[in-house]
Amino acid sequence: MIRRLGNVFVLDTPNTTYAFGVIPSGQLEHLYYGERIVIDTEEEAVVLAEKRLSLPGNTVAYSSEHSNVSLEVLRLEMSGGGKGDVREPFIEVTHADGSYTSDFVFADAKITQGKEPFVTLPGSYEENNQVEELTITMKDHSYDLTVELHYFVFKNQDVITRSAKFINTSDEPVLLDRLMSAQLDFERADFEFTTFHGAWAREMKRHDMSANACKIVNESYCGCSSNRSNPFVMLSKKGTTEDHGDCYGLNLIYSGNHYEAVEVSAFYQTRIVTGINPRSFQFHIAPGEVFEAPEAVMTYSKSGFNGMSQNMHRFVRECIVRGEWKKKPRPVLLNSWEAAYFDINESKLLKLAKAGKEAGVELFVMDDGWFGTRDNDTQSLGDWYPNKKKLPNGLAGLASKVNKLGLEFGVWVEPEMVNVNSDLYRAHPEWVMEIPGKPHSESRTQRILDFSNPDLIEYMTEAMTKVFSDGNIAYVKWDMNRIFSDYYSPCLPPERQKEVAHRYMMGLYKMCDTLMSRFPHILFEGCASGGNRFDLGILCYFPQIWASDDSDAIYRVNGQTGYSYGYPMSTVSAHVSDCPNHQTLRKTPMASRFQVAAFGVLGYECNLCEMNSEDVKDIKEQIALYKEWRDVLQYGSFYRGRAYDNVYEWTVVSPDKKKAVGFEMQVLFNPNTHFETYTPKGLDEDKKYLFTNRQLQINIKDFGGLINQVIPFHIKPDSLLHNVAAKLVKLPGEKEYCIANGKTLMESGVHLKQGFGATGYAEDIRFTTDFASRMYFMEEVSNTMESEHIE
Ligand code: GLA
Repeated sequence: MIRRLGNVFVLDTPNTTYAFGVIPSGQLEHLYYGERIVIDTEEEAVVLAEKRLSLPGNTVAYSSEHSNVSLEVLRLEMSGGGKGDVREPFIEVTHADGSYTSDFVFADAKITQGKEPFVTLPGSYEENNQVEELTITMKDHSYDLTVELHYFVFKNQDVITRSAKFINTSDEPVLLDRLMSAQLDFERADFEFTTFHGAWAREMKRHDMSANACKIVNESYCGCSSNRSNPFVMLSKKGTTEDHGDCYGLNLIYSGNHYEAVEVSAFYQTRIVTGINPRSFQFHIAPGEVFEAPEAVMTYSKSGFNGMSQNMHRFVRECIVRGEWKKKPRPVLLNSWEAAYFDINESKLLKLAKAGKEAGVELFVMDDGWFGTRDNDTQSLGDWYPNKKKLPNGLAGLASKVNKLGLEFGVWVEPEMVNVNSDLYRAHPEWVMEIPGKPHSESRTQRILDFSNPDLIEYMTEAMTKVFSDGNIAYVKWDMNRIFSDYYSPCLPPERQKEVAHRYMMGLYKMCDTLMSRFPHILFEGCASGGNRFDLGILCYFPQIWASDDSDAIYRVNGQTGYSYGYPMSTVSAHVSDCPNHQTLRKTPMASRFQVAAFGVLGYECNLCEMNSEDVKDIKEQIALYKEWRDVLQYGSFYRGRAYDNVYEWTVVSPDKKKAVGFEMQVLFNPNTHFETYTPKGLDEDKKYLFTNRQLQINIKDFGGLINQVIPFHIKPDSLLHNVAAKLVKLPGEKEYCIANGKTLMESGVHLKQGFGATGYAEDIRFTTDFASRMYFMEEVSNTMESEHIE
């Protein structure tokens, strides 16, 4: 709910309050953001405001009329530069006279119902459009310019979003050098700033930094939101844990160069801004023109990181992801990439698809290599017509054969890129982002198409329309495999070259808008060399994203934990792949490969035709199990338990709390640690649950020569006999079984079966090697069921 109490604005969500007021000098003073509080009158808000009597030494007085006001010591809703506030600004404008001082003050406020879509960018929405909006108009009277600050309050979520519009209401052109989306000023200087970093194949590693002085910047200059630094960040009070403490989460609905700066001021206040990266950014805004900043998402929870994540997850599921696939069970897919790379043709693909079908897969995806002369990654990006040698019956022919097997069919594309060795480049070198006449810095021998060029956008939209209508295409993997260099658009004049990165994003979003409305049935999956563009902008179009090219379970358990802070698991695509893993060469047990991937949108990316029958049988059982629990795993509430202590613990709970799935992984075996607990979260305190596990089969070869201590004859380790015996004999893993009340389970944890400790094998020993993991199931039991179980 949004209320105006005189000069104070109060924005309430079910559990949070955000407040600010107009001060006599015209600026907006930030008053409060945090747990819901009661503010009934303007007078009551006085307690939240800074008391200003005189000017702190060595600061600047805002004006002679307001000589006690130093903008440097105020908490502000938006800050310009040059009038005394030396901290990170919200806006920077270069005026026609060359000055770059901004002086925006309050002019007007309006509260409205419903949320209109943005014109140039994607944004959040609410199905019943119950969103309330507060528009504050700020005017720079010295230069006759306008900024609108938009606040959107989501009544059913603990989320407030912000965005800003710059309107050139003057009669002279200006240069917009920066426009942030949100600015939050706090009165304290003891936050922890948490960001998520990485690189290709190791995305989303959590970093915590104490923000006690100076400035910390989390940004991307890759042209995309990037695997280097994700735009999702957290601010928390010291001592915050997964379940306790104050935590703010911020994200940006944007897929390009982003910027999140946390600055601690000389007066021990903390400012965070988030928005488009101002580096190499400058927009020419003519009189009458409008510039939209992306929408920033803010949430707060006093229940620690998990509480904040729950808010973000709900918001992304309900208010970001849209279209037919928003709540539909996502299919289990088999992707051809790691099975065959570029070496594909119709008969090979059909064999693979058939093996997939037999294992229970629902969707078969043909990855890279199917078009033009694409036999490797040096050629043909841009030539979006099937290679007749590989696909004699085209896409439609293959799709129909795959459909006949009883599978849906999907295809890989990379519409934003071109190889120099392609028909498209030869025909239209002017459609490419490169500096004419200058050497280009290549990446994966490909270049970026210039999405600031309307002709290119139109061409590529039609080329993709042709691909997506060529046969029964149910799924598209939309890839983007390099970062930007040589920023330049041949279609823009020299003075507009700093508009390129943002114009690219607007062009891309425009193409996505058209294609999404033309193909509402297709399930789109985003990808950018894995997670190089995992953000809320992409999720407004594509309901799921390939989170990393690295499907090694030991990396993934950390990466998926990283994603889970800001993104729900229904957006995280995760595959079981070959062993040794192609990215890490690590040998991870099949059980763990599946049990980690199962907590995202499950898929397979391996050559099922060449796998041993044991693994194939295992995969069949995995897929059946996943389908049985898919509604919980994909759309349940996800909680993190212990992490970063050699042990990872997750729980996902169905919306009605009747079912839950648990996960525990011990990364490296810790000798002589027999006793372990798994502690679920999010259960109904008053329900009773039957707790069981996914019982594993233990390979006797895991015991090596120790086997000779328990059998009456001798087996030479790794001999033929050892291998044959391992094939024929499997030892049953431990069975967990108990019935307990939800509160009991959450408070005490489940004390698991005793772990292996060099004491030999017994049927109920929890036998854990390096990289071992376990999957647990919790189901509500009725009183009758309970007595049956006891009998
Ligand atoms: C990227 C993707 C992979 C695969 C290849 C194909 O690396 O992340 O999953 O699609 O491209 O070239």
